[in-house]
Amino acid sequence: MKVVADLASVRAAVSRWRKRGERVALVPTMGNLHAGHHALVDQARTLADRVVASVFVNPTQFGPNEDFARYPRTPQDDAEGLAAHACDLMFMPDVDTIYPFGSAHAYRVTVPALADVLCGAHRPGHFDGVATVVSRLFTLVAPDVAVFGEKDFQQLRIIERMTVDLGFDIDIGRSATVREADGLAMSSRNRYLDPGQRARAPAIRASLLAMADGWRSGETASVLETAAHHRLSGAGFDVDYVEIRDEARLGRPDGDKRDGFRAFIAARIGPTRLIDNIALPDCISSL
Ligand code: PAF
Repeated sequence: MKVVADLASVRAAVSRWRKRGERVALVPTMGNLHAGHHALVDQARTLADRVVASVFVNPTQFGPNEDFARYPRTPQDDAEGLAAHACDLMFMPDVDTIYPFGSAHAYRVTVPALADVLCGAHRPGHFDGVATVVSRLFTLVAPDVAVFGEKDFQQLRIIERMTVDLGFDIDIGRSATVREADGLAMSSRNRYLDPGQRARAPAIRASLLAMADGWRSGETASVLETAAHHRLSGAGFDVDYVEIRDEARLGRPDGDKRDGFRAFIAARIGPTRLIDNIALPDCISSL
């Protein structure tokens, strides 16, 4: 696997592969890679002949009081993990390569509606930063396919919408959430948890599973949300949101429709904010 920081090298590699008729996948990451990221690379390999993984801690998606400065940076380990998963190229651009006029003066991509709810309501500007950097990576690398994880389901939907809206000729692959043995979704931020917090963290997954059970038996969204909120508060979480929303538009349940919904949770344990979600079974079709 080659590790490159400059755009010319990425473009040369991608154009060489294209000339041979090879299909190219991009896996955008912020580094500190774990098994969840490796699963994205494995999936990318099934969708393309060549895989490029970008490692860039994107300043525009962090709020002023968020963890940009202390976000874990582990390039050596990242390179070893990517090579072990048969990645062809690790692209580690600097800020000037992604934002030639500086990150504060870069164009911004906003995806209305989808970006205003859930995490968007609690992290103003976050999804503008995500959509902007992903659009930039799409333009620079010009892949045929890009793969994103379902753990960040709202991000995934925003990127899918942006890809259509901006007319990128790129297929978006979805990759299932990878979990620790006790159900905690893998995340770079799990390393911030002390042993006591780590022991309580699986309450998020347990709350989501209970919501899925309740939804299957016909319980209303608001009853399930309130119960999960209580459960998480009882486990020591400071809850940002527990919400059931539809997968396509991220709208609230309305009327009798029960299929195509997901439950979403964001909650803090100490200073660490964790998110997770679950697809809800359609109670009619699962009868
Ligand atoms: O999910 C992430 O790691 C980031 O939000 C992404 C998609 C790499 C953009 O910086």
